[in-house]
Amino acid sequence: MDAKKRVEWIYRTKNNEQLSARYDEWAKNYENDLEEAFNWIGPERVTEVFAAHVAKDAHILDIGAGTGLVGMLLAKRGYSNLTANDLSQGMLDEARRKNVYLELNAMVLGEPLDYKDDTFDAGVSCGVFTVGHAPASSFDELVRIIRPGGLLIFSVQLVAYETTGFKEKFAELSASGKWEGVAVSDKYQPIPKGEPEVWHRIWTYRVR
Ligand SMILES: C[S@@+](CC[C@H](N)C(=O)[O-])C[C@H]1O[C@@H](n2cnc3c(N)ncnc32)[C@H](O)[C@@H]1O
Repeated sequence: MDAKKRVEWIYRTKNNEQLSARYDEWAKNYENDLEEAFNWIGPERVTEVFAAHVAKDAHILDIGAGTGLVGMLLAKRGYSNLTANDLSQGMLDEARRKNVYLELNAMVLGEPLDYKDDTFDAGVSCGVFTVGHAPASSFDELVRIIRPGGLLIFSVQLVAYETTGFKEKFAELSASGKWEGVAVSDKYQPIPKGEPEVWHRIWTYRVR
């Protein structure tokens, strides 16, 4: 399957079992397809924002880490206390080969996460909150496992933001005092070379 069809095939996924199986199948070619065919710049953008806000000794969860592109960039910037989670074991197996994560955990966002309250100083996520992927309800658990004062820095695909409950969930977490907004980036195209046309923004929230 060519790279463009692969991305459309991923977006058309109907449930977590299918999504996990598709990412398992894609894992070995994911980086070639995204970087060569599409010039995937999401991880660079997200880590740039992250590095402007988070101290180097922070205990960090890479949320939906995939093959570890974000972790690799964070390691290059001097971060070393990194945990990865993802629903696809195939993607996590690729991430393990990067040798930058102390732990890698198969877990499903949108379901209860097997971490204690306040486990992490910060969470980072790139490309995970998008059409057919992790739901807005994921953030109920993410604000639980990041300590008060810690940061969540993540991209959201803008169609998903407007139409699948992210906008409402973010407002609800602000209104209930679970987090406060710190910054929102300008919109940008994380796959500037490719179709379908995709736009992201990066949100930064401080957990309370
Ligand atoms: C486009 S990839 C991004 C991977 C990596 N963060 C990057 O920047 O290259 C999306 C990742 O999110 C994971 N994912 C999607 N839905 C998820 C869910 N509900 N729970 C956990 N991981 C999920 C997929 O398995 C996949 O590895």
